[in-house]
Amino acid sequence: MWPDRRLIDLVKTELPIVQAPMAGAMDAELVIAASQGGALGSLPCAALSVEKIREQMGDIGARAAGPINLNFFCHPALEDEPSRQGHWLERLAPYYASLGLDPRAATAATGRTPFDAASLDLVLELKPAVVSFHFGLPDAVMTGRLKAAGIVVMSSATTVAEAVWLERHGVDAVIAQGAEAGGHRGSFLAGSVAAQPGTFALVPQVVDAVRVPVIAAGGIADGRGIAAAFALGAAGVQIGTAYLRCPEAKISAPFRAALGTAADDSTVITNVMSGRPARGIYNKIMRELGPMSADAPAFPHAAKALAPLRAAAEARGSSDFSALWAGQSVALTRAMPAADLTRSLAAAGRKRLEELAR
Ligand SMILES: Cc1cc2nc3c(=O)[nH]c(=O)nc-3n(C[C@H](O)[C@H](O)[C@H](O)COP(=O)(O)O)c2cc1C
Repeated sequence: MWPDRRLIDLVKTELPIVQAPMAGAMDAELVIAASQGGALGSLPCAALSVEKIREQMGDIGARAAGPINLNFFCHPALEDEPSRQGHWLERLAPYYASLGLDPRAATAATGRTPFDAASLDLVLELKPAVVSFHFGLPDAVMTGRLKAAGIVVMSSATTVAEAVWLERHGVDAVIAQGAEAGGHRGSFLAGSVAAQPGTFALVPQVVDAVRVPVIAAGGIADGRGIAAAFALGAAGVQIGTAYLRCPEAKISAPFRAALGTAADDSTVITNVMSGRPARGIYNKIMRELGPMSADAPAFPHAAKALAPLRAAAEARGSSDFSALWAGQSVALTRAMPAADLTRSLAAAGRKRLEELAR
């Protein structure tokens, strides 16, 4: 039924669809529902403790029979710089005042930690079918141990050079993430964010450059996008934004409302929310401080000073300070349960491929 079965054969799912891991926007419930629909369910672990990951995998194991992907970040663990953080807080001071907050309420925890020795031990204990990474790969010894345990390793590439680097460092599949994608760019070698190719340009060039299966990500939200990805040589798709509309996604009411009214030109790439470039729906804080700002502390430290503003604003029904991560196809998405969404995306993709083959 599918023109390319390499991803299905590699990860042993029913469908060549990866439900994108989305840190801060979902938990086991979405993983279970997407997996029940036939996709590769992915649990984002970047913001979870070892105990929490173990607990979530317990829930998933009890309710989903399919293969599961555990996703981690591999960003360099940079120290926060007090002078930059102080300057950032000064820039945010008027917003603290307008919400009646004390700047000393800024949180100390970043909430985003890179893959480390404890993560490796946990993964080797839990033995998921797949582990995927964002922002590169862990060191060669760690990657080797994952592979030696029979775990499929994947990572995001935003350029051909990153895809080639990932293949050389042992990945079993490359996720080619185009500029349309919601959330953080997985970039780890690339220079300017403004140079990131779009999915339509990136996927065929990555397909030409590597031998491993390529998963297209970014702006894919319906059957036409899935068919296009296969036409460009992809062996599967990774879909994020469309799953945010599912009742199983764990997002705030203001975020859900913003997704429902966004248009094709509603998103921008910004670094003000976290310190790294990510695509989200343009809101007050991105507009007034960015969308790109040289003042933002390094990832993920920029988020600390925003956390109290976000919480206070969301409690008042406002998304002015929220990281509204979403891709450029947000307006193509429909609110429906994740298992149904997975099946309907697959059916629409197959139908479009059949129509084109006639
Ligand atoms: C809300 C949100 C959070 C995300 N968090 C992660 C993450 O934790 N790990 C990751 O590898 N990718 C993350 N991504 C990026 C996705 O893996 C994927 O590249 C992207 O969603 C694809 O584009 P689309 O949103 O247009 O479907 C996130 C995307 C969104 C929208």
